[in-house]
Amino acid sequence: MKIFNNNKQFRPDEEIVDLYGPPEMLLGPEYAEQPYIPPVLRGTVGDKPSCKYYEKLLDCYKSIREKTDFQPKVALVLGSGLGEYAETEVDIAETIDYSEIKGFPRSTVLGHKGRFVFGYVGGVPVVVMQGRVHFYEGYDIHDVVLPTRLMSMLGAEILLLTNAAGGINTGFSAGDFMLIRDHISTFAPNPLTGKNLEELGTRFPDMSKVYDPVLCEAISTTAKELGITLQQGVYLQLSGPSFETPAEIRMLRGFGADAVGMSTVVEAIAANHAGMRVCGISCISNLACGMTDTPLSHAEVQESADKAAPKFRALVSGAIEKFGSL
Ligand code: HPA
Repeated sequence: MKIFNNNKQFRPDEEIVDLYGPPEMLLGPEYAEQPYIPPVLRGTVGDKPSCKYYEKLLDCYKSIREKTDFQPKVALVLGSGLGEYAETEVDIAETIDYSEIKGFPRSTVLGHKGRFVFGYVGGVPVVVMQGRVHFYEGYDIHDVVLPTRLMSMLGAEILLLTNAAGGINTGFSAGDFMLIRDHISTFAPNPLTGKNLEELGTRFPDMSKVYDPVLCEAISTTAKELGITLQQGVYLQLSGPSFETPAEIRMLRGFGADAVGMSTVVEAIAANHAGMRVCGISCISNLACGMTDTPLSHAEVQESADKAAPKFRALVSGAIEKFGSL
């Protein structure tokens, strides 16, 4: 049985089944049999790349493929606090600095390295982004999601996004983890604007279930097994880099956000567009502005995320091991 494949437009003849229909289907073996075809193997729509962004992606892809033929199953984006994850949790096969990839945007944020790490977590082949690209650094939004699309082209069918976020939900505490169940993208630039990258996905992609329920279930089970409390909620991305005001936080709470940050949503949109299965975990590094008397600082966010890192690392590795059989 095929699962629904709403956003890739290259296999129009395949049977469409609503993944979110019968619950028994969600965890059934049929899911594991669904082959993932990386965009680069789906064939181009015409003779030439459909637009300059796809051309740039192909250049980056070729540049990586000249250095490695590693085939990742899972792509992991490391947020604040998880910077050292690759060194401690990944059986490293190869690394490629972003500076070695022609045309690749480079992160300028303090505490973020800039390289892809290829290797294994619990035997599962992964590509890890050690250092992500943020919109607030001044990059074009298409460049911000270029790494996500690139990892999809390299064969990664699952994307695990991590970040540090401000807790908006009054039931959250600093140091909590939140499984991202949905997002609000309204206040962030949409990475799909401009000419559609036909090779990746459809013009108007469905966003009704961005965060794959099977992957969410696997993360939730891992947290239970490790005795880690896992909150769940809606993540909202703002462009940053300034933190929010108390009035903004009250507004965002009214809109249904549980956590706020400056990343993740645009990557999730691009990945969903390209047909990847997406999931995400936030480390609630602080309560959002106005919820405590302490002014916010990047140093505080980093320090708090660093403190939560050992648990975060265990949660991420445990989840990736489970993804290996999905
Ligand atoms: N606001 C926005 N981004 C963040 C925060 C916050 O409070 N904490 C960590 N990233």
